[in-house]
Amino acid sequence: MSFIELKRINKSFGKKSSKVDVLEDLDLSIGKGELVAIMGKSGSGKTTLLNILAGIDAPDSGEYLFDEKPMKIKSAADGVRFRRNNIGIVLQHFALINDFTVYENVEVGLWESGLSSGEKRKRVFDVLERLEIADLKDKYPGKLSGGEKQRVAIGRAIICEPKLLLADEPTGSLDSTTEEHIIKIIQDLNKTNGTTVVVVTHDDEVAKSCMRTIRLEKH
Ligand SMILES: Nc1ncnc2c1ncn2[C@@H]1O[C@H](COP(=O)(O)OP(=O)(O)OP(=O)(O)O)[C@@H](O)[C@H]1O
Ligand SMILES: [Mg+2]
Repeated sequence: MSFIELKRINKSFGKKSSKVDVLEDLDLSIGKGELVAIMGKSGSGKTTLLNILAGIDAPDSGEYLFDEKPMKIKSAADGVRFRRNNIGIVLQHFALINDFTVYENVEVGLWESGLSSGEKRKRVFDVLERLEIADLKDKYPGKLSGGEKQRVAIGRAIICEPKLLLADEPTGSLDSTTEEHIIKIIQDLNKTNGTTVVVVTHDDEVAKSCMRTIRLEKH
């Protein structure tokens, strides 16, 4: 059995003449510990797919099994609970909190964890060191480069040690050296922690660094 199983998933937006069918009868299965790239043209439904995997958005029809259990998100609170226990997300545009320092932006991922403040501190420093941004801990996002911001966003996503990491174009606007660094961080996380990772990318280098590429075709 797969860790993630999507069966005949359909998703469209809008009504009647303005209706856009984004995902049509999509089947997808991803094993535990896989590192998978999702590729496809702009508008092909990559972010829509990640939102469904994260329980942020529900499909119109079809089945989603997560760790062999059917995903049924009936309320926003269900979605929050599901993500808190299972999912780390790196959004397409970082989504850092500008009034928070690097340290605080990463710590956000532990707000609901129930850990003591001492444990939180240790976890945040471990992650900052792993991502080589510990020296930036007191800086605000406005003073960071794109690659630094991206590492903070990854830190926030992995701090709760999710079973599934979803990353939407994590190397989108980065130079090739920074891109390599981000790829290495993601690969390392996949190998050492056994985290299942789904990375949306337009970049062949990123796709090559994954075990498998899934292509979404635009209809
Ligand atoms: N909330 C929404 N309401 C209406 N239409 C939407 C909504 N979200 C996405 N769409 C439409 O669905 C299609 C797929 O969008 P999506 O964001 O999944 O594409 P994408 O593959 O991630 O593209 P990109 O590479 O540009 O990020 C687009 O045509 C988009 O306009
Ligand atoms: Mg997108």
